[in-house]
Amino acid sequence: MARKQNIAQLRCMGCGSIEGAPTADLRCTKCRELLEAVYPTWQKRGSQQPNPVALKNLWQQRRTSLDALDQSGVWRFRELLPILSDINNAVTLAEGNTPLYRLHQSARQSGVEQLYVKHLGMNPTGSFKDTGMTTVISKARELGVKWVACASTGNTSSSMAAYAARAGMRCLVLVPQDKISVGKLSQTLEYGAVVCQLPTDFDECLKILSEVVQQAPVYLVNSANPYRLEGQKTAAVEMLEQLGWRVPDHVIVPGGNLGNSSAIGKALLELHELGFISTLPKVSIIQAEGSRALVRTMQETKGESLVPVKAETLATAIRIGSPVSWRKAVNVLRSTGGACEYVSEQEIAAAKAQLGAEGIGCEPASAVTLAGLYNLCKQGFVKPNETVVMMLTGHVLKDADYVIRFHSGQLLPEASAAMKSFCNPPIQADANPKSVIEVLERFTNEPARALA
Ligand code: F0G
Repeated sequence: MARKQNIAQLRCMGCGSIEGAPTADLRCTKCRELLEAVYPTWQKRGSQQPNPVALKNLWQQRRTSLDALDQSGVWRFRELLPILSDINNAVTLAEGNTPLYRLHQSARQSGVEQLYVKHLGMNPTGSFKDTGMTTVISKARELGVKWVACASTGNTSSSMAAYAARAGMRCLVLVPQDKISVGKLSQTLEYGAVVCQLPTDFDECLKILSEVVQQAPVYLVNSANPYRLEGQKTAAVEMLEQLGWRVPDHVIVPGGNLGNSSAIGKALLELHELGFISTLPKVSIIQAEGSRALVRTMQETKGESLVPVKAETLATAIRIGSPVSWRKAVNVLRSTGGACEYVSEQEIAAAKAQLGAEGIGCEPASAVTLAGLYNLCKQGFVKPNETVVMMLTGHVLKDADYVIRFHSGQLLPEASAAMKSFCNPPIQADANPKSVIEVLERFTNEPARALA
């Protein structure tokens, strides 16, 4: 496959101009809008355009290859990614390659028979961020960058720190103090990042970082960076491959800073345009009630201007009130016909525990998808005979504190009936077999907790 032809250009989302040298905060020099990667050679008919039949075969063949790039679930699809002038600059931890699970109990409960989760929390650092971090850190290495930086609610920072360490780069992290989980902070420290905890929220951290990168030689790897989103596209490609290229009716994604929904939407639109798929799934975005900037943007301005909110939610990964990629996400909703909904804290907690009871752990921000599905079913937007894939974005152990507080009944002052039905507190027993057998007998006589 002629990779040399796959040259990406950065195009402004606002004025459409091609940007050769973006600002340090990776925006258009003319109108300050975000940029996106485009591939001019794809527009030309003929041999320079990706060939769906040949590529589907090639990508499948690479699954058996021992080459490090082929073993990456991102670089395996490199024909859809910006080319690196020297492939040795690729920094990979064998990211991607995440499982697609069919759900049975949740399918019965929601009435949607063909229900799947794509578990992006099974990436090397436990979140979907790795799929974009491999492309952006590789690009940074190619640019000769010494320092990379991000503002984060914890997952981007964990991922950036790991990939920067692999690449031998230094990295700077800005996080909202006491508002990221201990697990994510631990990972970020372990991989050697310089971590600044700021007494503010994520939105302000990102604003401060945008100024820092203009005054200091550090390269921004937040999702404003279009090279991040290119890698994150591969979650959608891999999902389609796992479904045998059968296109689902719906893809449901959590929404925070809105990079991931934008990336998944972009992938699907590109695959459709290039003839890999003949229909488009509806991409729906679900937010937490207290951080529903996109929902309000759609309701109050029909997607024309951002309605920022003061963000609050226990799903700290998506505690974001002024999402950077809101315009890209609006385009995805419009061009795929997806819905944008919010869910309550109780709904998130119950959905997360329901997935857990089915053997699928995830972090709270991921569980908004299942909570949102119930609402979309009630509205008739998702129909029982349709196929639905929900994107789970983070591993259950990313926020162990949330899990323990949930199961010991301390998470929220008021637990819904659904929450209570999944509550599974640890039991204090005496240190002898008799006491343990008594517990066993008590539970043997009780119906199983999981959904009937
Ligand atoms: N799910 C998880 C587990 C996340 O960590 C994030 C974002 C999202 C969903 C939302 O994705 O921002 O692309 O809409 N986490 C970022 C971080 C903000 O810093 O780790 P998004």
